[in-house]
Amino acid sequence: MIVGVPAGSHPHERRVALVPAVVPVLSKNGLKVLVEHGAGEKAGFPDTAYEKQGARIAVDRAHLFSEAGIIVRTHGFGANSPARNADLELLHSGQVVLGLLDPLANPESIRELAETGATAFALELLPRVSRAQSMDALSSMATVAGYKAVLLAAGLLKKMFPMMITAAGTITPSRVFVIGAGVAGLQAIATAHRLGAVVQAYDVRPAVKEQVESLGAKFVELGLETTEAETTGGYAKAMDENFYRRQRELMTRVLAESDVVIATAAVPGKRAPILITREMVEGMRSGSVIMDLAAETGGNCELTSPGETVEVNGVSIVGPVNLPSTIPYDASQMYARNIAAFLQLLVKNGELYLDFEDQILRETLVTHNKEVVHPRLRESLGLASAPG
Ligand code: NAI
Repeated sequence: MIVGVPAGSHPHERRVALVPAVVPVLSKNGLKVLVEHGAGEKAGFPDTAYEKQGARIAVDRAHLFSEAGIIVRTHGFGANSPARNADLELLHSGQVVLGLLDPLANPESIRELAETGATAFALELLPRVSRAQSMDALSSMATVAGYKAVLLAAGLLKKMFPMMITAAGTITPSRVFVIGAGVAGLQAIATAHRLGAVVQAYDVRPAVKEQVESLGAKFVELGLETTEAETTGGYAKAMDENFYRRQRELMTRVLAESDVVIATAAVPGKRAPILITREMVEGMRSGSVIMDLAAETGGNCELTSPGETVEVNGVSIVGPVNLPSTIPYDASQMYARNIAAFLQLLVKNGELYLDFEDQILRETLVTHNKEVVHPRLRESLGLASAPG
């Protein structure tokens, strides 16, 4: 079985789905790796590094797609809006596709993928069970994003993060407020704390209070957090507009005293909740920075524009897109380990082994036998509940 690694085709993509170090790991399981020429270049992995580990370099993209039984992607199909259909005609029936495919936001792209006859697995749908932790690409990429968001904010801020007592006087520390203490938020808290800022955080899920405090930050109690805001899978549930209105009112004061706001609040498969209004931004100090990590799903701030920095009343509102791709070397290493762990489930002794009784395969499977098979996607596409 050959695993094909195409170069990223998304304009912001610098990561690669497999790095040279995992090639020997896959070889042990009988897998051969075929890499598109230059696929790892932007992440710091030249073709020669893959060849040294036993991978082959494909003559071109068409050659790669025709030879490989499994295609591994970073931002593929649904997750790649500018070039979403570009590779569809290169896929062949029975070929396996694995990667971040953004199926919940782009179910139509999954229908197009199904028509090719490919069997596709979307990592966004991975169940959050301990056995799947080594494959959890959303968590590994959120870790990178949370870290980088703080660095970007620190670079834009006109102040320093740490307190400094110097002969030229005392510099007070910057105040950072993190909204949403999931994987990205917790990493943002840890990074801002390491840089010496005074950090506060808020999440609707009360379970995270302890995690926030263990990282040296203060959990802001708004009195709204409730165990009902959490799904059994550990994610936040969408709340009603009345809840979000109360939350905005209560957070206004915290925003006004913050130099940096890192917003990461998300509800899987839904538009990000609007938690920061124009009025709240106008109440912030000039020179403050809002880093809206939810920009790609609509933004937590109503002024956010994805991929741009907007300035309102001296407050910079940044809407970063694909932050993990800005640290491509480490992001690719983490992603590649997630992919390699998933491949161990898909392949036994070099042969494809699709055990749909396995919870991880069953829940991430989006297309098979020319059908969209995931119940949630079938529902959003208006298809009958069970594929024929
Ligand atoms: P996410 O990216 O979907 O959401 C980010 C954060 O936003 C979450 O903590 C969520 O509670 C919060 N949020 C949503 N609405 C909000 C609002 N109105 N105000 C403030 N915060 C709001 O979630 P992520 O980071 O992917 O994971 C969430 C949780 O899932 C983790 O903290 C953890 O408990 C669990 N998890 C479990 C894993 C496992 O068991 N294998 C692996 C990774 C995460």
